[in-house]
Amino acid sequence: DWTPEAMADQLVEQVREQVGSARAICGLSGGVDSSVAAALVQRAIGDQLTCVFVDHGLLREGEAEQVEKDFVDATGVDLVVVDATDQFLNALAGATDPEEKRKIIGREFIRSFEKAARDIVGSQQDDEHPVKFLVQGTLYPDVVESGGGTGAANIKSHHNVGGLPDDLQFSLIEPLRTLFKDEVRQVGLELGVPEGIVWRQPFPGPGLGIRIIGEVTRDNLAILRRADAIAREELTAAGLDRDIWQCPVVLLANVRSVGVQGDGRTYGHPIVLRPVSSEDAMTADWTRLPYDVLARISGRITNEVSEVNRVTLDVTSKPPGTIEWE
Ligand code: XMP
Repeated sequence: DWTPEAMADQLVEQVREQVGSARAICGLSGGVDSSVAAALVQRAIGDQLTCVFVDHGLLREGEAEQVEKDFVDATGVDLVVVDATDQFLNALAGATDPEEKRKIIGREFIRSFEKAARDIVGSQQDDEHPVKFLVQGTLYPDVVESGGGTGAANIKSHHNVGGLPDDLQFSLIEPLRTLFKDEVRQVGLELGVPEGIVWRQPFPGPGLGIRIIGEVTRDNLAILRRADAIAREELTAAGLDRDIWQCPVVLLANVRSVGVQGDGRTYGHPIVLRPVSSEDAMTADWTRLPYDVLARISGRITNEVSEVNRVTLDVTSKPPGTIEWE
């Protein structure tokens, strides 16, 4: 019989056995998966774990704060925050191809992560308990979709599976590798991870970087961040958060269309809303959101984000469309 309690106990025990008295570090993204993985390893080995949160500048509004405050308050983990915005945006300059962007983000993520890990190791000088392990919140569908070990086609390079260097100095701990998202959520609740994090909709590791079609610039990020915050606010206010799996908000930075506002012509960018319903992200259907909610989101985005003059709705299932646009 599957219960979250039994599953949590079993995973905690496995991690304890695997790690022994060594130290581990964990890359936190603020998402459900890495948060639950961290909480689980924290339960298993306590202060032998240090978490590293790399702020790549591709986060949504309020996200860094949520990790720095809520998660640490709830779990008491030892957290190191790295501000790597300049590093990521410089590396992404000029890149528009989806896989190229994903690979750049994956590479820079590992780079800044390894540097943070070296700093932690350097500051510890503890030869008896070296940092030997790297914790990742990889789920079963990530393993499948990155073609990991199954021979499946590589659909997208998920940054937490595909992008590890060959000479990685750590052994991996992936305690959630056999679980689906709903199971991870239940295990997370069991471990006392705050509901605000457990019920967060999935958000991809490469963040807003793969929700800007075109170049990832500071200006484009600022536009998308505002539009995304409005959409999330209205969906939450309408009580729809648990009805939808997630709702990517995408900026078509390389498309413009003509509009009119007041007496003036505008030539702005479209925003795409991509609300989806799903069990495990392997397949998905587009969510039939109430028209009045769509109307409020559209009205507010076009009023409050001056660079956007059109809001569109993606009505494609997966397959053939993936959930994210890149
Ligand atoms: P797609 O776009 O492949 O997305 O239908 C399936 C699910 O995975 C999320 N996603 C990612 N998550 N790193 C992640 O941690 C990634 O690189 C990544 N790419 C997509 C996506 O948000 C959806 O929930």
